[in-house]
Amino acid sequence: MAISGVGMTAKMAAAGRALESRRPDRLFDDPLAQALAGEDGFRWMEDMRPPGSPAENPSIGPRTWFFDQIVTRAAGDGFGQVVLLAAGMDTRAFRLPLPARIVVYELDDQAVLAGKQAILDREHATPRCLRRPVAADLAQAEWPAALAAAGFNPGAPAAFVAEGLTWYLPEQAVALLLDRAAGIATPGSRLGVDMVSADYLTNPAVTPYLELAASRGARCQFGTNDPGGFLAAHGWQADIHDMFAVARSLGRWPPPGVPDNVADRAAAIGRNWFISATRVP
Ligand SMILES: C[S@@+](CC[C@H](N)C(=O)[O-])C[C@H]1O[C@@H](n2cnc3c(N)ncnc32)[C@H](O)[C@@H]1O
Repeated sequence: MAISGVGMTAKMAAAGRALESRRPDRLFDDPLAQALAGEDGFRWMEDMRPPGSPAENPSIGPRTWFFDQIVTRAAGDGFGQVVLLAAGMDTRAFRLPLPARIVVYELDDQAVLAGKQAILDREHATPRCLRRPVAADLAQAEWPAALAAAGFNPGAPAAFVAEGLTWYLPEQAVALLLDRAAGIATPGSRLGVDMVSADYLTNPAVTPYLELAASRGARCQFGTNDPGGFLAAHGWQADIHDMFAVARSLGRWPPPGVPDNVADRAAAIGRNWFISATRVP
């Protein structure tokens, strides 16, 4: 089964994690990322790179690091369930020091999950905890039923992670996704999610990138200038972090050789939020 354009963005993200893993000051080590990205993932990453920008995407390392913290903290606080909404080539079940009792549910498109499994099998990869892939369309209402069929317990707290997903969905699908997650999340459950601003999606400087992605089947559709309000309207109290501030704090922004004023201009265009949210009753 062929992987769709939006599915290929998962391989692109894995390519970014492979590059991060090669750094002596890496934020994490993802030994499977190179294989999961494959040549296609690296090619996509290169094709999507704006001319003149550094080979390493400055957001992917900090982004994965940020959501790693949410999962690791939840595990430390005794959570037994992690739900990766649009898991793509995520390897948290393999590389994070999670207790063996934790169940990591990996939801994504069937073709993406099948392609991933073939690579994991070839690499003889063994998860550190329980791992359950669940084929689901996250733009539709039914995915909680598939998750329940895979063993998810809505009576126990869970950490949900929707990393690199929301901008590929229409606004009403993002609202539905948040509602459906809130519907199966006990109060105190957590959600990690990233969002771009509506301004980013309409910025002329970004148009060539968005058009290229759309021409490959990965159309960016949703952005909001009020991520906190959007999440609150769907049951989640958000703690919002600017991607560039996180990247700067981790030494990934500005990239080497980019002067501060140029970096500041890029940051003003590319507003992207890393969000840690909690389910409120
Ligand atoms: C940029 S990738 C992010 C993958 C992973 N979370 C990461 O950060 O590496 C986007 C993912 O969203 C998935 N996706 C997009 N729309 C989806 C949908 N309607 N249902 C299920 N998965 C979807 C794609 O298949 C892809 O794996």
